[in-house]
Amino acid sequence: MEWKAKWIKPSLEMGDVCPMFKKKFQTTEKVKKATLTITSLGVYEALINGSRVGEFILAPGWTSYKKRLQYQVYDVTDLLGEENLLLVTVGKGWYRSRMPGWASSKVQSALQQNPAGLLAQLDIVFEDGSKETIMTNETWTAAESNVRFSEIYDGETYDASFQSADDTEVCTFDGPFDTLISQQGEEIREQERVSAACIFTTPCGETVVDFGQEVTGYIEIEVNAKAGEEVLLSHAEVMDQDGNFYTENYRSAKAQLHYICKDGHQIYKPKLTFFGFRYIRIDKFPVAVSAAKPENFTAVAVHSEMKRTGFLRCSNPLLNKLFDNIIWGQKGNFVDVPTDCPQRDERLGWTGDAQVFIRTACLNYDVEKFFTKWLGDMAADQKEDGQVGHVIPNLLDDPDSSAAWADAATICPWELYLAYGNDEILKSQFNCMKKWIGYITTHTKDEYLWTGGIHFGDWLGLDAPDGSYKGSSREDFIASAFYAYSTSLVIKAGKVLEEDVAEYETLYKKILTAFQKTYTEYHTQTECVLAVYFKLAPDCQAAADQLADLVKSCGKQLQTGFVGTPYLLHVLSEYGYTQLAYDLLLRETYPSWLYPITKGATTIWEHWDGIKENGDFWSKDMNSYNHYAYGSVADWVYGVAAGITPLEEYPGYEKVRIAPMPDQRLDWLEATLETRHGIIRSGWKIEDASWRYEIVTPVAADIVIAGHEYHLEKGSYLFYSKIK
Ligand code: BGC
Repeated sequence: MEWKAKWIKPSLEMGDVCPMFKKKFQTTEKVKKATLTITSLGVYEALINGSRVGEFILAPGWTSYKKRLQYQVYDVTDLLGEENLLLVTVGKGWYRSRMPGWASSKVQSALQQNPAGLLAQLDIVFEDGSKETIMTNETWTAAESNVRFSEIYDGETYDASFQSADDTEVCTFDGPFDTLISQQGEEIREQERVSAACIFTTPCGETVVDFGQEVTGYIEIEVNAKAGEEVLLSHAEVMDQDGNFYTENYRSAKAQLHYICKDGHQIYKPKLTFFGFRYIRIDKFPVAVSAAKPENFTAVAVHSEMKRTGFLRCSNPLLNKLFDNIIWGQKGNFVDVPTDCPQRDERLGWTGDAQVFIRTACLNYDVEKFFTKWLGDMAADQKEDGQVGHVIPNLLDDPDSSAAWADAATICPWELYLAYGNDEILKSQFNCMKKWIGYITTHTKDEYLWTGGIHFGDWLGLDAPDGSYKGSSREDFIASAFYAYSTSLVIKAGKVLEEDVAEYETLYKKILTAFQKTYTEYHTQTECVLAVYFKLAPDCQAAADQLADLVKSCGKQLQTGFVGTPYLLHVLSEYGYTQLAYDLLLRETYPSWLYPITKGATTIWEHWDGIKENGDFWSKDMNSYNHYAYGSVADWVYGVAAGITPLEEYPGYEKVRIAPMPDQRLDWLEATLETRHGIIRSGWKIEDASWRYEIVTPVAADIVIAGHEYHLEKGSYLFYSKIK
């Protein structure tokens, strides 16, 4: 892209108010084609002659801004007339909001100093072949917009009755050009609308609207009012034990929407911020709070474009609700970056959460483009010595890397390759993957293990000592296990790319030997899980047996946290404990996947006991009700219960193994997966005391049903089998 435009910013300090940049121009000839190329420091909304340009909400999206800033290109031919007005409002977005929420006041005030910059270029080609370019430069003006305040955590204030005073000058400045890249990720767009389910008064007299579903997005307000009347809304995920509106778990995020009305009938929705919520409290409403009706509010769900590819259904309504919640968890946390949560003062691209969930994410939706962009940021943010941040974009800039978090560097590209069969992701990330191994090798205390360092451990494991967030699994154990696993993935990726991986093969052997020598016994469920799943145990069956004993001896309960949970059921079912895996999946009492459903969950909780049996909350400060990590159990349902598994030698489901494993407690289960090679369906049901299997596959498949093996060539099959 050849930029003729200059970066502009308002010449006057506007404080929290979002500036609106303006350019008036005329066209005398008939326009053949007009293209707007645009980006900003902040998030922008562009209008041409009153019509919104494109559907991208929160453009230019979130990248590691110091290294990469996306620009977008829109065809705006149809929006131009003879007299034209191009208006662009720039909000703080991820670029200038006080992120993370615990940033020091020094960091926060530095963020405030960043300019609300705009770079835009409108290239017009006329019917007669002549051309014109309208570009940001000194001829533009700026004014205060109706958006009086807009920030990622704190929300938005919009004054519809505000009339901007005279336009002021803009000044050009030395903004970033070297870091500009064309749009790489998916666009964030409005995806669906959720009507209010009900409106009610809480015991302490507040008026609350329930949407019946936790969504990420914003509220559209429709109201008749007089100029100056106000609507003030607060957002929440849950109600407290007494049925009152509860916002403490948002921590410092104010998450408020404040709208000051103009005269008459009006519809407003913010577009420079977003919220995570199920409930809103009406703090102010024209005439009186009691005048508010459910139809005044609609929740608009916003997330990155991604095509739904996976569907799970079965005979158990609670399990179906879990599947739905996993989907909502993904939608709510895939707003350009895979985030931990969409509501409190984090909303960050935590690497651990992303690697835990990525396999499920790739099954539910086509997220190849979404993750390719995020991994591009990871590579850009990676330090020279290979260090990978806890969050990407790396706002925290912590000097340490944690095992199982930074291992997203190897796990995510590999999972994308398996899911979509495209080795481009391995090519583009291979260097980052290798550098990550190099970091561990040079930062460990003991050669061929990863000892020392600061880690998150088996985050939120239930076997955590009192007062700790970290489960009891040894940190050095987890770190060394991931060192081995990541190295094995570098070897696999290197082989796909036909690179020389001899050095890593030697390293892997040494890690394995050191691991087996050092860790001769396993202390926790997660330790057993990792030893088996990563094939580090000299006797995997014995370690899986130990795991089964540990699970049974505490009353058939899981105790795993972020690190052990994704592989727990896989290890059990692979080593002869499928029924025990189902016991855990179908368990309704705490701790389990279904327990939150019995407490009304509509997304996946951060904690197994976000709401305890007696109604108490787990904590005030670390208690999100929309954290997708434990939703990773869906990959076991697709891959084991329904049995659809990609084969490493045939990535992208070019050939599959389908080995369904039914359980008596479900009458039927079905998974559908749209792959790059067609739609695969696998299901089973109980019929006349037999199992009837139905498998549809457009690709070659190795089918294993109740110990019988069948091999199908590529073609289109509907496969039935009935087994007593
Ligand atoms: C986040 C997690 C994250 C963790 C790191 C939390 O605050 O919400 O999901 O992985 O920190 O331990």
